[in-house]
Amino acid sequence: MYLEKLQLLNFKNYEETSVSLSPHINCFLGNNGQGKTNLLDAIYYLSFSKSFFNPIDSQLIRDEEAFMTLTGEFNREDEKEKIHIGLKKGQKKQVKRNKKVYERIADHIGLIPLVMISPSDSLLIIEGSEVRRKFLDLIISQYNRRYLDDLIQYNKALSQRNRLLKKFMEIRRFDEESLVIWDDQLMKYGNPVYEARKQFIEEFLPLFQKHYQFISSNKEVVSLNYISQLNELSFSDNMLLSRDKDRRLTYTTKGVHKDDLGFNLGDKPLKKFGSQGQQKTFLLSLKLAQAEFLKDHKKNAPILLLDDIYDKLDEERVAKLMEVVQKDWFGQVFISDTHLDRLPGLFKKLKVEFKAFAIEKGEVRDV
Ligand SMILES: Nc1ncnc2c1ncn2[C@@H]1O[C@H](COP(=O)(O)OP(=O)(O)OP(=O)(O)O)[C@@H](O)[C@H]1O
Ligand SMILES: [Mg+2]
Repeated sequence: MYLEKLQLLNFKNYEETSVSLSPHINCFLGNNGQGKTNLLDAIYYLSFSKSFFNPIDSQLIRDEEAFMTLTGEFNREDEKEKIHIGLKKGQKKQVKRNKKVYERIADHIGLIPLVMISPSDSLLIIEGSEVRRKFLDLIISQYNRRYLDDLIQYNKALSQRNRLLKKFMEIRRFDEESLVIWDDQLMKYGNPVYEARKQFIEEFLPLFQKHYQFISSNKEVVSLNYISQLNELSFSDNMLLSRDKDRRLTYTTKGVHKDDLGFNLGDKPLKKFGSQGQQKTFLLSLKLAQAEFLKDHKKNAPILLLDDIYDKLDEERVAKLMEVVQKDWFGQVFISDTHLDRLPGLFKKLKVEFKAFAIEKGEVRDV
């Protein structure tokens, strides 16, 4: 699957732009603030029907304009796949696949597998567990159709249960029977979420370690572990044991919404003991493993977006990275850089076919 043509209308700092792309490597080159990352974000949007950077859709519309559209013409095994996003201020967005509007936007997720590598990946290390759960959810929901539905139902049940616990406190009456209804829902949808996450991490770990070894060319042992209350106790035992506590605190303290992913360097936590370089390499390896994992599961290499890669890595590591991403099993790649000739030079040296674009004030020019 690759993107042949990208059209933007009033998306961020783009007025009306159409770009024909290479199925292999595409470089977006230009100074700060010209629109390189915005182009990557437009591609991201076509895959996930939301922005990587800004969750508020109306802010993606170019200043003063009332609407924006994004159109991507993808090629999937020589079949055309046209994705169109339409967004008007104050209205619900519309996502179309081959002119047909999706009834549920969630159904679009997974059609265009994609991995974004950006400086903000560091949030995976810095922030709380929610960011890491999202990382898991984003990958798993791209190949496991049931997963996203289970997760949506789980979250609904969770907020209903929490609402009920608060109500009990308000009316000063505890009704176990009505709580149990939501316990059952939580378990019904939470157990498959747990199983899917567990299985994913088992399969993902060796891929991740392989990429870390390659990029760092060194001996450190890195690992990931799945942290879940369900590792030690079944969901139903967890629910039983926490009932009094939940009642007192008026929220649900046990379940897969508390899961986390542990990042380790040797037997120590990466966050506290990893050097800057080790942390950067860790994140990059996570993302490359994500791409390889999706390729294996979707039988289709994901599109790879690499934003500001030099910001994170020295020349040597970037060269290693480029060596990885141009391998034949990798799909289409988009890379942004502020230098006009650094990436082109590298790809010429590697004898890799590529296309370069100069980005200036929201305009795209072939170079
Ligand atoms: N809704 C919007 N309307 C108009 N312009 C916008 C909108 N949202 C963002 N921009 C503009 O887009 C520009 C930033 O573009 P982008 O982040 O793609 O830059 P970049 O080329 O990646 O730069 P850098 O090298 O600094 O990362 C900014 O000038 C910003 O003001
Ligand atoms: Mg940028």
